[in-house]
Amino acid sequence: MSDIRVLVLVGSLRAASINRQLAELAAEIAPDGVTLGTFDRLGELPFYNEDIDNDAVPEPVAALRRRGAESDAALVITPEYNGSIPGVLKNAIDWLSRPFGEGALKDKPLVVTGAALGRYGGVWAHAETRKSFGIAGARVLEDLQLSVQTTAFADKHPRENAEVVANLRDIVGKLAAEVG
Ligand SMILES: Cc1cc2nc3c(=O)[nH]c(=O)nc-3n(C[C@H](O)[C@H](O)[C@H](O)COP(=O)(O)O)c2cc1C
Repeated sequence: MSDIRVLVLVGSLRAASINRQLAELAAEIAPDGVTLGTFDRLGELPFYNEDIDNDAVPEPVAALRRRGAESDAALVITPEYNGSIPGVLKNAIDWLSRPFGEGALKDKPLVVTGAALGRYGGVWAHAETRKSFGIAGARVLEDLQLSVQTTAFADKHPRENAEVVANLRDIVGKLAAEVG
């Protein structure tokens, strides 16, 4: 049987992003038979515009949709910006939501997690990302939630934090188990 493929989207473009490090960790601890791959070109997507959403979409959009279509599930890892979803991630959701009713992640299991500086670890952004992906057609796993305050990492890679490793391993395993 072929591997379960999980598309990973990271809501921060920052080179030293803690959320990007969480994505690295998720890939490292994925169970056998589950392959995680980050689509790391969100910064190349143009702003969503219905006028250019046609048969000749810009290449980065086509690449994102192709990766979504080839995936069995999605793991979204994001910080919170001003109490909400970072714009670069919201833009990706909008591209993935079209064609209406036929988006690349339609009915696929999707989990949202991540880290932010605030004491609640980005729960607002995570809740809104769940809401938005749900409206966009993904099957959001509402019960799998992990919002971590970045201070928990104390300038170390998240793989050094045993509790986060255990929680993320649990989430990735349960996400993969949802693939039918
Ligand atoms: C524009 C901007 C807005 C932010 N707003 C919030 C916020 O509303 N809540 C929060 O917890 N952290 C906020 N932060 C802090 C981020 O959570 C923190 O910088 C985090 O490390 C960013 O994630 P990254 O390390 O993956 O880039 C904000 C940061 C930026 C740059």
